[in-house]
Amino acid sequence: MRRKIVAGNWKMNTTLNDGLRLAGEVKEDAEKGLPEGVSLIVAPPFTHLTGIREILADSIGLSAQNCATDDSGAFTGEVSAKMIASTGAEYVIIGHSERRLFFRESDKELNKKVKIALANDLTPIFCCGENLHEREKGIYKEVVRNQIELGFTGLNEDDFRKIIIAYEPVWAIGTGKTATPEQAQDMHSFIRDLVKKLYNSDTASTTSILYGGSCKPSNAREIFENSDVDGGLIGGASLNADDFLAIARSF
Ligand code: PGA
Repeated sequence: MRRKIVAGNWKMNTTLNDGLRLAGEVKEDAEKGLPEGVSLIVAPPFTHLTGIREILADSIGLSAQNCATDDSGAFTGEVSAKMIASTGAEYVIIGHSERRLFFRESDKELNKKVKIALANDLTPIFCCGENLHEREKGIYKEVVRNQIELGFTGLNEDDFRKIIIAYEPVWAIGTGKTATPEQAQDMHSFIRDLVKKLYNSDTASTTSILYGGSCKPSNAREIFENSDVDGGLIGGASLNADDFLAIARSF
């Protein structure tokens, strides 16, 4: 059985106080109950990780939004997987399209990040997805295949089994445009098939593949209903506890 996951990517939002308050609201609302088998993860900014770990119940996962390619050293401004793990966080988002685009993170670098996250017992939430140009040119499957093959180069089956994948079409992120349920299912089944080719069908069937891109309470249900969609990576709507929990309750 694969896990159903709703993860909130807060991006560069909330002051520490606002973040602690939001985490408290998420925890309180989650305690009212979630559909069976659904797990929540929140990914606040680095500065909030320690404080939020103390607020969240163990049942809610904590994630960073990025990590460095090395464990320590002269890399001013970077935060390592080892440091993230020391806060009590269990996950790290790797390869978000904003990192790929604005910070020019290469597939090679992301592959290093995946490996260093795993070495520090963090579960990577690995993002992939095509931009509008690539979608319109009809090369979106090739783009995503490349991102996955390069991002996971050198990972054995045991390591790969710890990975969570998030398919996030760039044209749907923060734009209010969501992929149609058919587009999401088509890409998710393509990704699962690829995992099957790279590893095997058992691994493919246990890999959680989340959808991300303008997911909100009004459209989550029709997206989550698809057989290969195992949840969502939620940006904007995760900044409101009611909306975030409503999305989690769409299962
Ligand atoms: P969005 O962001 O929900 O605001 O579109 C999703 C993401 O970037 O993870």
